[in-house]
Amino acid sequence: MEKQFTANEKPYLEIRKITKIFGDEVVALKDISFSVKEGELITLLGPSGCGKTTLLRIIAGLEQQNQGEIILAGRDISRLPPKDRDYGIVFQSYALFPNLTASENIAYGLVNLKKPRKEIEERVKELLQLIGLPDVGHKYPSQLSGGQQQRIALARALATSPSLLLLDEPLSALDARVRIALRLEIKHLQDRLGVTTIFVTHDQEEALVMSDRIVVMNKGTIEQIGTPEEIYRFPATPFVADFIGMMNFLSGVAERGNTIVRCGSVHFKYHGSTPFETETPVLIAIRPEDVNLRAEKIEGENIFSVIVQELEFLGSFYRLTLSLLGLDGGKIVAEVSINRMRALGIRQGSSLYLHVPPELIRVYPTRNRVS
Ligand SMILES: Nc1ncnc2c1ncn2[C@@H]1O[C@H](COP(=O)(O)OP(=O)(O)O)[C@@H](O)[C@H]1O
Ligand SMILES: [Mg+2]
Repeated sequence: MEKQFTANEKPYLEIRKITKIFGDEVVALKDISFSVKEGELITLLGPSGCGKTTLLRIIAGLEQQNQGEIILAGRDISRLPPKDRDYGIVFQSYALFPNLTASENIAYGLVNLKKPRKEIEERVKELLQLIGLPDVGHKYPSQLSGGQQQRIALARALATSPSLLLLDEPLSALDARVRIALRLEIKHLQDRLGVTTIFVTHDQEEALVMSDRIVVMNKGTIEQIGTPEEIYRFPATPFVADFIGMMNFLSGVAERGNTIVRCGSVHFKYHGSTPFETETPVLIAIRPEDVNLRAEKIEGENIFSVIVQELEFLGSFYRLTLSLLGLDGGKIVAEVSINRMRALGIRQGSSLYLHVPPELIRVYPTRNRVS
């Protein structure tokens, strides 16, 4: 199912050193560079205000960068007006023309290009099929649901078969159920059409589900670029670790040999590649699902005695807050399946053993602390 890109494939879209400053001092983007392969769906992910929309608008030519270039298929499009850049775009709010029918909305770009009527009719019919709404062509936007309107907006963006599809939080205004259905539909459609796509969202789950690669942004800079699995399993910074999924953070200091971090009086072993000087303040990060619980003590690394302080039932699993003696009041959150809860007979106050495999612990220098 996963798309295959070869390592030496030429970039299709190149974002080179883009900087954008609003007014005198609002630095919305700082020296942003990355490239997108042909047919790839790349997501710009980050909290509100980190510069996602600004970057998308610069790619679209709706905003002018202060510095940097945009290269599309080998052509510098940095200074071209929007109409000469060859993209389709969908925004969060339904930007359909209210006085035009669904079909007329989809046909809009084709009419502008003065395509023959017959050809337009066929293309609109084809697009309505493609988005799974063959029978709504005659309806006006107000007669359509939010999800249907966004499908029409998507069809309109795709009508002229653009080189690039730009999607700015197209699902954010929809309710959860529709959002979940539509994100898979968009992914499959994108895959089928092979249209190079930049998708913007602040929703980490959406990014993980939809993307070939994710660009994680924070305050106008890139924190990490990688596949969803790379970003989740090997977050490059505490910001990424914190923003995507849940994470336990514990403060400590690096000890001898770069394989041990001391938090309070607890020693965590890890498999590190970055060397730290002895006694460097560090932050260790552990995913709640990587905390294994056992009823009996076993021999091995990172096995500690804990007490269950709190438990939250979350449907398919429990989230436990564990206190670990010697951790300076530090708590560790674990996620445990219902079956495992039953097997271990876990309840509030239970005494258990915690085990975290060293290879699943990430260690960061404290100066990169989550802020
Ligand atoms: N037209 C503008 N004038 C001044 N500041 C702007 C303008 N557009 C965006 N900004 C600022 O640039 C930053 C990035 O905004 P934006 O790109 O909309 O972020 P995001 O889409 O990630 O939420 C924010 O600090 C925002 O206030
Ligand atoms: Mg935005």
